Amino acid sequence: MKICRLFDMERLDKILVSQGTGSRKEVRELIKRGEVCVNGEVIRKADFKADPENSSITVKGQAVNYSRHIYIMLNKPSGVVSATNDNHDKTVIDILPEEYKRKGLFPAGRLDKDTEGLLIITDDGDFAHKMLSPKNHVEKKYIAKLDKEITEDTIKAFKNGIVFADGTKCMPAKLEIMTDSDNKKGIVTICEGKFHQVKKMFLCCGINVVHLQRISIGNLYLDSKLPIGSCKLLTKLDKELIFIGNIH
Ligand code: URA
Repeated sequence: MKICRLFDMERLDKILVSQGTGSRKEVRELIKRGEVCVNGEVIRKADFKADPENSSITVKGQAVNYSRHIYIMLNKPSGVVSATNDNHDKTVIDILPEEYKRKGLFPAGRLDKDTEGLLIITDDGDFAHKMLSPKNHVEKKYIAKLDKEITEDTIKAFKNGIVFADGTKCMPAKLEIMTDSDNKKGIVTICEGKFHQVKKMFLCCGINVVHLQRISIGNLYLDSKLPIGSCKLLTKLDKELIFIGNIH
């Protein structure tokens, strides 16, 4: 018989919320209706304590595949900072729904305060490292609105690898002009995350970025139905998509 340590035990409603089963209110309803079983036994109390890693939990007969870590897709709004805490500004952690908040959460990579779009928030350091390390060549795509037209020279300069004024060398990047944009909107693909990288790359070509949105990391795209400022939990497939097609 397995002996569960007391500190491994968590409230059933909290476990289910952390796995994306629903909001706290929704999972409490499910529990009350007798739709949740722990080790084959119907549990009707939200404060029932279970060991999430070693119990078999089902909801409406479907197994909950417990993951110790949490992975959140946020459609980051402008005006919040990519930090865990800040004395002046709201952070991306501050704007998460209460049910997703937990110890150890951090944004996996930074978007500038005025940049919008796909940001992953997690408590899994290894995952974040794997996603962010330039060595792993996980591509990040941005839509950049510009104050001037993109020219063939700009595209070439991105392809060759921009060198900042201080000598910092960027890896080769892809720049595509978006159709119907008067040549003033482009999709930039980079594999690294230097400070203000996209803005500085354009600036080296004499162009200012007036709006920036990240749309993908690897093959995981920002959910077009996710309103700005909202978030959702990543599925196992979503997580895999980040690394699919990554040849390194
Ligand atoms: N590059 C930038 O310049 N800003 C961001 O927020 C992300 C990439």
